[in-house]
Amino acid sequence: MTQQTAVARQATTLRGAIDDANYRYYVLDDPSIPDAEYDRLMRELEALEAAHPELAAPDSPTRHVGARPASGFVEVRHAIPMLSLSNAFTDTDAPDGTDPDHEVRDFVRRVEQGLGVHEPEFAVEPKLDGLAISLRYENGLFVQGATRGDGSTGEDVTANLRTVKAIPLKLRGDGWPAVLEVRGEVFMPRAGFDAYNARMLREGGKPLANPRNGAAGSLRQLDPHVTASRPLAFYAYGVNLPPDPDAVIADRHSAAMAKLRGWGFPTCPQNAIARGADGCLAYFRKIGAARNDLPYGIDGVVYKVDRYDQQRELGFVARAPRWAIAHKFPAEEQATVVEAIDIQIGRTGAATPVARLKPVQVAGVTVTNATLHNADQVARLDVRVGDSVIVRRAGDVIPEVVRVIPERRPAHTEPWKMPAHCPICGSAIEREEGEAAARCTGGLVCAAQRREAIRHFASRRAMDIDGLGERYIEDLIAFDYLHSPADLYKLTLDDFLAMKRRAEERDGVIPETVKAGKIATKWADNLVDAIAASKAGTLERFLYALGIPEVGEATAKTLARHFGSLDALMRASEAELTEVNDVGPIMAGHIAAFFAEPRNRKVIVALRNAGVHWKETAPQRKAEGPLAGRVVVLTGSLLSLTRDEAKDKLEALGAKVAGSVSRNTAFVVAGESAGSKLEKAEALGVEIWDEARLLALLKSHGT
Ligand code: IVH
Repeated sequence: MTQQTAVARQATTLRGAIDDANYRYYVLDDPSIPDAEYDRLMRELEALEAAHPELAAPDSPTRHVGARPASGFVEVRHAIPMLSLSNAFTDTDAPDGTDPDHEVRDFVRRVEQGLGVHEPEFAVEPKLDGLAISLRYENGLFVQGATRGDGSTGEDVTANLRTVKAIPLKLRGDGWPAVLEVRGEVFMPRAGFDAYNARMLREGGKPLANPRNGAAGSLRQLDPHVTASRPLAFYAYGVNLPPDPDAVIADRHSAAMAKLRGWGFPTCPQNAIARGADGCLAYFRKIGAARNDLPYGIDGVVYKVDRYDQQRELGFVARAPRWAIAHKFPAEEQATVVEAIDIQIGRTGAATPVARLKPVQVAGVTVTNATLHNADQVARLDVRVGDSVIVRRAGDVIPEVVRVIPERRPAHTEPWKMPAHCPICGSAIEREEGEAAARCTGGLVCAAQRREAIRHFASRRAMDIDGLGERYIEDLIAFDYLHSPADLYKLTLDDFLAMKRRAEERDGVIPETVKAGKIATKWADNLVDAIAASKAGTLERFLYALGIPEVGEATAKTLARHFGSLDALMRASEAELTEVNDVGPIMAGHIAAFFAEPRNRKVIVALRNAGVHWKETAPQRKAEGPLAGRVVVLTGSLLSLTRDEAKDKLEALGAKVAGSVSRNTAFVVAGESAGSKLEKAEALGVEIWDEARLLALLKSHGT
C-alpha cells in the first residue's frame, strides 16, 4: 500500500468514527464515546487534513459542528448567532518550571494587550453542564425558544421549554425592551438527576448517562408532557436585543444579569467578578473545590470581560468571542483498555472484580484500576479482557467502568466468569441467594480477609490503634505474627523490631537501624503503647471493630444500646435481633451467623482474655425521648458543634439520624454550604431547620 492510500484510509476511518459519534450524541442523545475521546479524534483528523490538503472534503466533520436537527422539530434561524467559547485547560502534568495555567494567562494577556488595560474586570461564572438555549420575548411574553443547533440554526423547542418552571412565560417588573433574547443553560440539577435515575433503576427503565444528557434528552422529547415530568432548571447567562448585535440593556454584563434577575430570570448564584488572571484563577480553584457540593453539574468556569464597550473592542475570531474563554476541568471520562480482570477480597470475604487498565489520565489522576462492583455488574456491562471501555472518576469516588465501546472489541474475547476459588487462599468462592456479592469462604484463614479485618479492627473509628498502618499489618501477616486481631495484644517490642528487620531484608533496603547508627525503637514503643491503650473502649466500638458483615457504626451503636452487654447480644436469636430498630432479617442473619461461628467466638474470647474491656449498661429496648421514631438528616456544616456531636445529641433524644433524605425524613438540619440534600428536602417538601432551631431544641431538653 502506498503511503498516500494509507493516509486516505486513516482519514476515512476517522471521519466515519466522528460522524457516528456525532449522530449518537446530537441526534440520539446517547453518546458512544467520552467528549475527550471525541476531541482527540477530531484533532487527529484536523492534523491529517492540514498535512494533506488534497484529502480535504466538503463533507468532512471538520467542516461543520454537530449534526442535522432530528426530524420532528422545526428549524429556527437565530437572529443573532449563538457563539461558542474557546477552551483553556490547566495542565495537570506540566513539567517543573512551566506554568500549568499558561493558557488562561495567555488569554488574559491577549485581552489586556487588546484593550491596553491592566487587570480588567471579568464576570466569572460556573460553566453549566446542560444545553444552551435562546429564549425570545416580545412585549414581555415568551414567544419562542430554540436550541443552539449549529449556532446559526437550531430547533424550535418552545412547547418543551414552556414546561420548565424556571423559565418565565411573562416578564416581571418594567423597563424591558419590546424584543428581548435571553440566552442560558437548561440543566438537570443533581438531586433531580439522582432521583430520576433511582426511579429508573427501580422501575427497570433506562437511567441517564449524565445530567447533560438528561437535559438534552428531555428537551428533545416530542411530547412536552414527558419534558414536564423531568426535573429541569434554567440559568440565564447572556442577553441580546435583536436584530442589533451591539444593542445592550446595561453597560456591563454583570449589570445586565442583575436586570434579567429583576425581570424574573434565574442566574447562577455562584457568578462573581474577578480582576486579572490571578482573580480568575482563584475563582477557578474555589469553584473546583466546591464542585461536588454544588447542586448542579459543571464542567469548568467561564471568564467574560465584564464591560460591554471592552467586549466590542475585542470582537470575535471565527465563532468565538475574544473577550471570553471557558476554563475547563480535566475530563472525568476517558477511554482505555482492560488488560485483566482480577478479584479483590474484602474484609468480609466479598470478592470484587477489579479491571486492571492500561494507565490513563482521568480528571487529572493516572488511573490503573477500576472497580466492577460485582459479577452482575460485569455481566450487565459485558466487560471482557481486551475490551476498550469508558472509565469515569468524579471527585473522590473510586474510578469505575461506565461502559464498553462495542465497536472496539477485539476478536475472540470470552465473557468473564467469577472464579470458583479464592486467588489468595484457595477456599471456595460462594454466592448466597439474593446477595450481590460472592464471598471467599476462607474467613481469617484467607490472608486477604485477615489483612482487611485487622485493618478495620485497628481503624480510627473502631479500636483506634494509632500508627498501625496498612504496611505494618501486611508485614505482620506476611511474617506470621498475626492470625487474628487478638494476636495484636500479644505483640512485644521485640516482635515489632524483628518484623521490621525481616521486611527490610526482604525489600533489600538499608535498615534504618544501621543508617541511624543506633537502634530506633520509638515507633515500636508507640505501637505497643497504642495497642495497650486500645484495650479500654466501648461496646459499640468493639462491635463495629469485629467487622460483622453489614454492621456499620450506626448498627453497632444500636445493638450496644439495645442489648447493653456482649453476652446478651451473643445469646440473641435471629427473631430477637429483628426486634432491634433498623435490623432487618438479612442483617439479623449475618449477626447470628457471625456469633455462631466457632472461629469468631474463639477470637472474641481471646480478645477479652487479652484485657479488651468496656463498660456494660442496662439494655435500652425502645427509643425514647421527644424525637423517638423520627428520622433526621444533617447537611452542611454547623458552626457550634461537629456533625458527630449533633448526631449524638439527636440520638440521645431518640431520633434516628439518617444519611439521605426521603419522604420519611421528619426534618433536615441545614448548616453552611448545604448541598444536594437540602435541594432534595425542598423538592420533597420536607421541613428544613437551621442551626439556631436545632440548638433551641437541644437546649430545651437540657443537652
Ligand atoms: S457564554 C459567547 N456562559 O458553554 C458566549 N456559556 O461554548 C456564549 N455554557 O454551549 C456562551 N455555562 O451552553 C456561557 N455561564 C456560561 C455558560 C455557558 C455553560 C455553555 C453554553 C455553550 C458553551 C459555550
